[in-house]
Amino acid sequence: MTSDRGRLEESVAGVVDPVIGLPLGETGMIRSVGTRRHRAEVEVAVPADDWPGLSELVAAVESAALAADGVREASVVAVTMDEDERNALRIALRRRMQGDTDDGGGHDHGGHGHDTPTPAFLQSGSKTRIIGVSSGKGGVGKSSVTVNLAISLVRAGHTAAILDADVYGFSVPKMLGGDQDPVIIGDTVVPTAVHGVRCLSMGYFVPEDQPVIWRGPMLHKAIEQFMGDAYWGEPDFMLVDMPPGTGDVTLSLAQVMPRAEVIVVTTPQAAAQRVAQRSAFAARKLKLSVRGVIENMSWFTGDDGTRYELFGRGGGAQLAGDLGVPLIGQIPLVPELREGGDTGRPITVTDPDCEASLAFSAVAKHLVAIGPARVYRRELSLS
Ligand SMILES: Nc1ncnc2c1ncn2[C@@H]1O[C@H](COP(=O)(O)OP(=O)(O)OP(=O)(O)O)[C@@H](O)[C@H]1O
Ligand SMILES: [Mg+2]
Repeated sequence: MTSDRGRLEESVAGVVDPVIGLPLGETGMIRSVGTRRHRAEVEVAVPADDWPGLSELVAAVESAALAADGVREASVVAVTMDEDERNALRIALRRRMQGDTDDGGGHDHGGHGHDTPTPAFLQSGSKTRIIGVSSGKGGVGKSSVTVNLAISLVRAGHTAAILDADVYGFSVPKMLGGDQDPVIIGDTVVPTAVHGVRCLSMGYFVPEDQPVIWRGPMLHKAIEQFMGDAYWGEPDFMLVDMPPGTGDVTLSLAQVMPRAEVIVVTTPQAAAQRVAQRSAFAARKLKLSVRGVIENMSWFTGDDGTRYELFGRGGGAQLAGDLGVPLIGQIPLVPELREGGDTGRPITVTDPDCEASLAFSAVAKHLVAIGPARVYRRELSLS
C-alpha cells in the first residue's frame, strides 16, 4: 500500500508544469497526495489563481495519477499557493537559474536585485547560443526574422527564446501573438511560451500606447534584468531582437552577454547594405562575433512563378563577402508575412510550408550547422 502511494507521489512529481517547464516535484507545486482505496487525491498548488495552462496541468496530473499502480480514480484539485509556497518556488527558480540542480552546492539563493549572480545560460560553459539580430537600418525585418527564426528552430526540435531588446520600439509580443503575459513570482519573472518560444519584452510591462522614455543606464538595467531576473531555463537559442542602429543596446549586449553572436539582417539594395555594415563593425569593435548575414525581402514571387527583385539584388551576398561571413539565407517578400506580424499569427505557424517559412527553416538549419562561435575563454589562458 505504502509503495503504491510512493509510486503515485513519484508519478505526480514528475509532471512538468507547462509554464515553468520544471517537474512539479522540484517546484513545490504539489501540496498533498493521498489515497483512499483506489482513489488518488492530489492537491496542486499554483502560483496564481489565473495560472496559465491550469487545465492542461490538471489533466496531466490526473493522467499521471491514473498511471500509478493501484489507482483507478483520481481527483485533482488546484489551489493557489500561500506566501511560503510562493517563496519556496521563487528560491527553487533562482537556484535553477544559477545552474543548481540539487540541494547541495550553491549559495546566495535569496539573491535580490543588484548582486544577482550570473544566470547559468549566460556563463561560458552553457549550451545556450545567444544571437543578436541586428541591422543598421530600421524596418529591414529584424523583428520578423527573430520571431519566425525562433519558431523555425523550435519546429526543428531545438529550444528557443526571444529577448526583445528593442526597449523603446518593442514589437515582438504583437508579432509573436499569444495573450499570456509573463508571470511574476516575487522578484523573478517567468516568461511564458508562445508557439513554444519564451519571450520577454518591454511590451509586456508598459501599455502599448505609452512611450518608454528612458535614459541609457536604465535601458541597460532593463536588459540586465530581463536576463538576470528571469527564469529562462537553458534554451538552445536565445535570440535577441536588437533595435535599429548601433547604439547603447549593442554595448549592453556586449556587457551583459559577452558570448553573444551577431547576425546582420539587410535588404538587397546597396544603401541598406552599407548601413548594415556599420552595425557589424560596431559589434566587432565590442568583440562580438559576427556570424552571418540574412538578406530579407530578397524577391517577390508572382503567381506565374516569376521572381521580381523589387529591391535590387546581391546586397546580402556582397555584405557577407565584405564581412567575411556566410550568407545564412534569403527570405522572400510575402504579404502574408507582414499580415501575420500585424495579427500575431506568425507565418511559420500558420503556413509552415510556404515559400517564406521554408526559407526560415533553411536559415535555422544553416545557423545550427555553423555551430556556436569559438570564444576566447579567459580561464583557458596560461599567463
Ligand atoms: N519578408 C517580408 N515580407 C513581407 N513583409 C515583411 C518581410 N519582412 C518584414 N516585413 C514587414 O516589414 C515591416 C518591418 O519589419 P520588422 O518590424 O520586422 O523590421 P525591423 O527591422 O524589426 O524594424 P525596426 O527597425 O523598426 O525594429 C513589418 O511590417 C513587417 O511585417
Ligand atoms: Mg524591430
